[in-house]
Amino acid sequence: MVRSFIYTAALAATALFISTSQAVPVHRRGYGQTAALISEDQFCIFLPPERGGNIADNEDRAVAFCNVPIESAPNAGTIPRGLIKSLHFVKNNNEGWVQITGRLDPSAYGISSDDQGGQYDMRAPVGARYSGYNAFVQITEPDSGIYCLRVCKNKSDCPVNKSEYGCEAVIGLRSNDQQDSTTVSFTLHKATNLKSLKAIMVKSFIYTAALAATALFISTSQAVPVHRRDYGQTAALISADQYCIFLPPDRGGNIADNEDRAVAFCNVPIESAPKAGIIPKGLIQSLHFVENTEREWVQITGRLDPSAYGLSSDDEGGQYDMRAPVGAKYSGYNAFVQITEPDSGIYCLRVCKNKSDCPVNKSEDGCEAVLGGDYS
Ligand SMILES: *[C@@H]1O[C@H](CO)[C@@H](O)[C@H](O)[C@H]1NC(C)=O
Ligand SMILES: *[C@@H]1O[C@H](CO)[C@@H](O)[C@H](O)[C@H]1NC(C)=O
Ligand SMILES: *[C@@H]1O[C@H](CO)[C@@H](O)[C@H](O)[C@H]1NC(C)=O
Ligand SMILES: *[C@@H]1O[C@H](CO)[C@@H](O)[C@H](O)[C@H]1NC(C)=O
Repeated sequence: MVRSFIYTAALAATALFISTSQAVPVHRRGYGQTAALISEDQFCIFLPPERGGNIADNEDRAVAFCNVPIESAPNAGTIPRGLIKSLHFVKNNNEGWVQITGRLDPSAYGISSDDQGGQYDMRAPVGARYSGYNAFVQITEPDSGIYCLRVCKNKSDCPVNKSEYGCEAVIGLRSNDQQDSTTVSFTLHKATNLKSLKAIMVKSFIYTAALAATALFISTSQAVPVHRRDYGQTAALISADQYCIFLPPDRGGNIADNEDRAVAFCNVPIESAPKAGIIPKGLIQSLHFVENTEREWVQITGRLDPSAYGLSSDDEGGQYDMRAPVGAKYSGYNAFVQITEPDSGIYCLRVCKNKSDCPVNKSEDGCEAVLGGDYS
């Protein structure tokens, strides 16, 4: 039995909806370009917006991804699981910079291990920045399996004019040289199979995209409001390979308690679900896609593993629909009904052109009674 909680949050959420609905422009990139680097537990890096993207080719398109949702990095995606293999955080209190360095597994984001990588900094991608800092330099070297990032109050501490030399030369050596750094752990040399300096030469591409990206920057910079939730509430359900569901914004959230805050998460980035997060790996255990072309609805049903998102297996779950969370919608459809039942380990979602096909008045009955479908 699913708790019934259809209307309760609508009024409470109205003021929020008014402000956030204005904060959601129609045309926009999936993720934002405001990142944060706070500690070894809260960090963001820039990556190509799409899985498998080449580092250098995306120097004008890279967007922020964080290990956890961070308020000062609104709109950032979540770093793909397994990408960061090691992380060494260093903070220089005197000069006001922080850095992270370490190993990465490019395959975790479909990046080629032949990709020589490149540098992202405050000049490209245009618009990229770290909250509270004036400069940053990030070098990503998929072919060497390493990355490095420093964010600085004083631009002179974030050298951006020698990207060809790679992480070790730009950030690593400098860090080792500076004995006043509060060095937590800096084992880049030991942790990696660094090739010769010549071999790790990173393609130089510092200025090339700045002009090309200017027009884009003008439109996207206006499209990035200051106050905003991390993830959006526009979802999509296209196929068994492209789908989104609504989940509590924070890991471990209770389904019902978040009926007025749930946000969209998709299995892959989907253009018509801008601002959605990525569904935590392992959450969806099975998925059965059904399309009714006559009535024009589509649905997915299946099993889920609540622990993959820290959900309690005692959580009786609940229903999300177009009335709550207020603002939630599926692109191209007029209605949806999603019932999530962590305690039963199942979920179901139907999105409809005709509202009468998405029954929202019997959430107490649970997935099988409301939508039917396959839960194997
Ligand atoms: C930045 O650092 C340089 C070199 O140490 C120094 O000359 C300059 O005054 C600093 N700028 C600011 C704004 O602190
Ligand atoms: C980079 O800039 C710094 C400071 O402006 C300068 O000292 C250094 O020689 C430059 N390095 C290269 C490779 O251009
Ligand atoms: C929705 O479906 C109902 C029931 O079949 C039908 O009466 C109604 O006309 C449909 N509405 C639209 C807008 O198609
Ligand atoms: C839900 O609404 C439908 C159509 O309006 C109605 O036929 C059905 O009896 C309602 N069910 C409940 C449990 O209220």
